[in-house]
Amino acid sequence: MENTPVIRVGELDFPARKVWMRTYGCQMNYHDSERILSHLEKLNFTATDKQEEADLLLFNTCAIRDLANQKFYSHLGETKHLKQKDVVVAAGGCIAQTEGKELVKKYKQLDFAFGTDVIDNIGEMVYRAYAGDRKFAVTTWDRSENYSIETKITHGSPQAFVNIIKGCDKFCSYCIVPFTRGREKSRRLNEVVKDVRRLVEHSGVQEVTLLGQNVNSYGKDNGESLAQLLFALEEIDGLELVRYTTSHPYDVSDELVAAHGTLKKLANHLHLPVQSGSNSVLQRMLREYSVEHYLGLIEKMRKANPEMVITSDIIAGFPNETEEEHQDTLKLLRAAQFDFVYAYAYSSRKGTKAARMDDVITDDIRGRRLREVMDVQEEVQEAIRKKMEGRTYQMLVVEKGSFKGQTKWTGRTSCNRLVHFDPPTQDFDYLWHWVDVEITSATAFSCQGVLKTVHGKRPPQHA
Ligand code: 5AD
Ligand code: SF4
Repeated sequence: MENTPVIRVGELDFPARKVWMRTYGCQMNYHDSERILSHLEKLNFTATDKQEEADLLLFNTCAIRDLANQKFYSHLGETKHLKQKDVVVAAGGCIAQTEGKELVKKYKQLDFAFGTDVIDNIGEMVYRAYAGDRKFAVTTWDRSENYSIETKITHGSPQAFVNIIKGCDKFCSYCIVPFTRGREKSRRLNEVVKDVRRLVEHSGVQEVTLLGQNVNSYGKDNGESLAQLLFALEEIDGLELVRYTTSHPYDVSDELVAAHGTLKKLANHLHLPVQSGSNSVLQRMLREYSVEHYLGLIEKMRKANPEMVITSDIIAGFPNETEEEHQDTLKLLRAAQFDFVYAYAYSSRKGTKAARMDDVITDDIRGRRLREVMDVQEEVQEAIRKKMEGRTYQMLVVEKGSFKGQTKWTGRTSCNRLVHFDPPTQDFDYLWHWVDVEITSATAFSCQGVLKTVHGKRPPQHA
């Protein structure tokens, strides 16, 4: 969208300007970034991916592991030279929530910082900066009882993220999120349904991913539940696929398991972070479930829906993890048969309970255990993916890429696997088409297939 030459807002003129944004971390952050951009359109900003031509540089930060932190600090450092012209530099998100004031003090080039609960006030903050007010931090929490928003999308794709719950009350001992995102607050079920219906009817959305730090806690504050919401979304004509992320095993209800067996629009995929395969480590992590409970849960899920694909997160080298506890995690990987695992080396986060534990584990041990987790998972994954060969999957084409000079298209299945296929003809734009692809070869990390049917921009039952 082109911007108008000048917009008058309050006391100021806003000429056409460009905003460059860098997002770190989880889907929640990417979703927040999109929300920020949609607010900035009202101040005559359009997005650019060229830092040099931007008037406003925004960083949406992640605090969950040290690596994301380091990347942000180094990228922020690199913006120093851009300050020669009058660019405004701001940092938002999880690091800014807990360290906003210090960041503004420490980094000369940083004009302002804003926390995770003031995203919808970004327009006011940018206005303030252009009115001449610099070096401020806004990290207040929204104290209202209700959490009420309307989803903003700036892209034209049929996929949308919809925030249904913010914050986290779990306080897992290693995790910074409850400090950076605050307490759990859910949107009301009717509001979410209305919001999704609007996205489907007015923006052509066909697939939604319900977002939250712990979506399984959704609705607890209002006597509602994720399962109820999923049943309500099933009724929306034109909505094809519903995903949700991320889940906590403690809060997965029988009602939700049953929903996976009944609902046609619910994706055949569940991301259910287990974190460790050792009961003693799970206790020290304050995860509130046992390995046995977890395995029972995924068995129930697979019984309810035999096509169910389960992915997970693992933290290797939690403080004082013994060799035996680590071996229990490798054992769990074999038992659980995850389709994919995000594996991380434990990273100490200031302010969390785990950061106060004495820790005998060295970086070397942590690195070795992480590699072992990845190796075992790769083996498991390879065997699971091999079984896909010869089967045909329906998928939405989500990307056009190029491989060795040849065009490749990528689709995402209901079970959340990415599949690449060669186009039989070069001059057809498959993007956002529903297609059937037969898998011809699959390895742990890549699935290739051949196009069997192109259904068009609606899956067959709606063709
Ligand atoms: N160290 C390593 N990994 C972590 N995660 C959260 N906190 C930490 C930490 N301190 C991982 C968990 C979580 C995922 C989003 O990030 O596995 O599920
Ligand atoms: Fe962090 Fe645990 Fe909350 Fe997930 S459930 S965001 S790991 S505190």
